[in-house]
Amino acid sequence: MKVLVTGGAGYIGSHTTLCLLENGHDVVVFDNLVNSSPESVQRVEELSGKKVDFRRGDLLNAHAIDSVFAECGIDAVIHFAGLKAVGESVENPLKYYRNNVIGTLNLLDSMEKSGVRRLVFSSSATVYGAAEHVPLSESLPLDATNPYGRTKEQIEDILSDLSAADPRWSITLLRYFNPAGAHESGRIGEHPQGRPNNLVPFIAQVAVGRRDKVLVFGSDYPTPDGTGIRDYIHVMDLAAGHLAALQYTGNKTGTFRWNLGTGRGSSVLEVIQAFSAAAGRSIPYEFVPRRPGDAARSYADATAALEHLGWSAQRDLAKMCEDHWRWQSSNPFGFATEN
Ligand code: NAD
Ligand code: WQD
Repeated sequence: MKVLVTGGAGYIGSHTTLCLLENGHDVVVFDNLVNSSPESVQRVEELSGKKVDFRRGDLLNAHAIDSVFAECGIDAVIHFAGLKAVGESVENPLKYYRNNVIGTLNLLDSMEKSGVRRLVFSSSATVYGAAEHVPLSESLPLDATNPYGRTKEQIEDILSDLSAADPRWSITLLRYFNPAGAHESGRIGEHPQGRPNNLVPFIAQVAVGRRDKVLVFGSDYPTPDGTGIRDYIHVMDLAAGHLAALQYTGNKTGTFRWNLGTGRGSSVLEVIQAFSAAAGRSIPYEFVPRRPGDAARSYADATAALEHLGWSAQRDLAKMCEDHWRWQSSNPFGFATEN
C-alpha cells in the first residue's frame, strides 16, 4: 500500500514512517518542516534501507497537497501534520485553528477530489479536557480546555460528519496519551525546538546538561506522591498502533475511535526516577506551583484498542527512558549540531 504521511518528518510521524517501510509499505511524506528537520527523513531511509518520497509542502497551500494526490497514487493517509504547543495555542489561537483545522480541510478536499477516502488522524487525550474519571474511555464526552485541544475536537467532529454524510469514507481517530521514548537505535527521536513543553524531553535536556533542573509543576495533587499522573506511551508502540489500525480498518468504512495509551499512570517523580536510572545520573528538580489547566491524573482505558485491533503497548517506562536517553545522549541537540 502507498501511504501519505503528513507531518512525517516530525516526532511520531518519523517513527511511524519507519514502521510502515519495515512492514512493506511505500511512503510519501508531506511536511513543511515548521517543527522538524529533513535529517529525520534521511535517518529513516538509512534505518530502513528504503527510499521515502519526501515532499516539502504546507497543507495551507491547497495546490501543493492536490499535486501529491495527482502524482503519487496514494491509497491511504495518516495525518500527523499540525501544531501542538498548548501554551502557544492560548496566545495565538488563530494560528492553531488556521493551521490545524484549515490544513485538515485542504487535505480532505484533495482526498475527496482524488477518491482516496481512508484516513487515520492524530487526535489526543487532550480532547477529554479536565475529566478525571480515570481510566479515560472513548465514550466520554469531549471537552477540550484550550485552543490546541479544541482544534483536535473540531477535526474529530468534521471527520465524523464527513463519514456520516458519505459512507465510502473510512476514518480512524487515534487519541494518544503522552508519547515518549525514541527508536531503539538512538538515530531518530523527538527534536523540540526551544524550551520543551513536555516533561520527558525536559528531563532529557536536564540529564544531558542543557538545563539546570526540572521544574515539577505542583506537589499537592491528590495523588500518592502529590505530583501529576500521566499515561506515558513509547513512540514505537504508538507507531505500531497506527499499523494495527490501518490493518484492522482494511476495507471497512465508518468512523473508529481508539485511545492509544498503556492504561497505566506514572507520577512526575516516578518519571524523573526512571530517567535517572536509565541515564545513570541524578536529575535535579525543584517543586514549583501547579501549571494552570493541568489535571491531577490522566490515563487511558486501553481495552478497546486491545479488543478491536489486538494492539497493546509492549514497552514500559524504564524502556521509554532508556531509549529516550540513547537518542538524547547521542544527539544532545537533536537533529541540529548546536543549540
Ligand atoms: P511534531 O511537531 O514533531 O510533528 C508534526 C509535523 O507536522 C512537523 O514535522 C511539522 O513540521 C508538520 N506540520 C505542521 N503543520 C504543517 C502544515 N501546515 N503543513 C505541513 N506540515 C506541517 O509533533 P508530533 O509530536 O510528532 O505530533 C504529531 C501529531 O500528533 C500532531 O498532530 C499532534 O498534535 C498529535 N499529538 C501529539 C502528542 C505529543 O505529545 N507529541 C500527543 C497527542 C497528539
Ligand atoms: C506531564 C506531567 C505536568 C513539564 C500535553 C498536552 C497534551 C498532549 C501531551 C498533544 C504533568 C508535569 C511537565 C514540566 C512538570 N499533547 N510537568 N514539569 O500536560 O499531560 O499533555 O502533552 O496532544 O495535549 O497537554 O503533558 O508532558 O506537558 O506534562 O512537572 O516541565 O508533567 O504538570 O503532570 P500533558 P506534559
